Amino acid sequence: MFVTFEGSEGVGKSTQLRLLKTYLEQTGQPAVYIREPGSTEISEQIRAVILDKANSAMEDMTEALLYAASRAQLVREVILPAIDEGKLIICDRYIDSSVAYQGYGRGLGAQTIKYINAYAIGNCMPDVTVFLDLPPKKNWRGDRQDDRIEQQSDEFFERVYKGYLAEIELSPSRFVCIKPEFDKNATSQKIISALRQRGAIR
Ligand code: TYD
Repeated sequence: MFVTFEGSEGVGKSTQLRLLKTYLEQTGQPAVYIREPGSTEISEQIRAVILDKANSAMEDMTEALLYAASRAQLVREVILPAIDEGKLIICDRYIDSSVAYQGYGRGLGAQTIKYINAYAIGNCMPDVTVFLDLPPKKNWRGDRQDDRIEQQSDEFFERVYKGYLAEIELSPSRFVCIKPEFDKNATSQKIISALRQRGAIR
């Protein structure tokens, strides 16, 4: 089972991934935990280039191709071998992030991003994608500007959010949409029970 997590900045995704990991460990369910961009030596180097605030001259298309390049490496080095071995894979962001951020946020278009990524991932799509559904105005991002993406405008994050919603409409069966609650444990329970219902975890 290949499970991905998606959402805008500041929706508590990292916290939820941590709580899910604790649950899986306590219930004796091993998993491969990865994040995008990154999680291989080469992908982490690409991540550093993408997120470096000094790279303000980076073209949107360059950015999209770098995310796809990082993904191409991760798919071949980690995800496909793990799927072959029947492992559970939990990935923090994947292609939907590229469609939302580069396709809608940067305005390159969803089709362009899917076309680029067809080379990167082939048909390696997630079985289930958990979307933490919180509009940017209500999220807990604050005014963090730690990397090149976080420096973007409110309008950029509005487009990203709308992009996610549009993608979910196109393939509703792949997505589990969860409205984060203030009580992070309550949110975690919702995620766990949704993933259990899908047969992704026990
Ligand atoms: P990260 O610090 O991992 O952010 P988060 O905790 O929000 O997941 O940085 C990853 C950033 O890269 C994040 O702002 C989302 C962005 N991103 C894209 O724009 N396109 C992509 O394809 C991916 C995977 C991430």
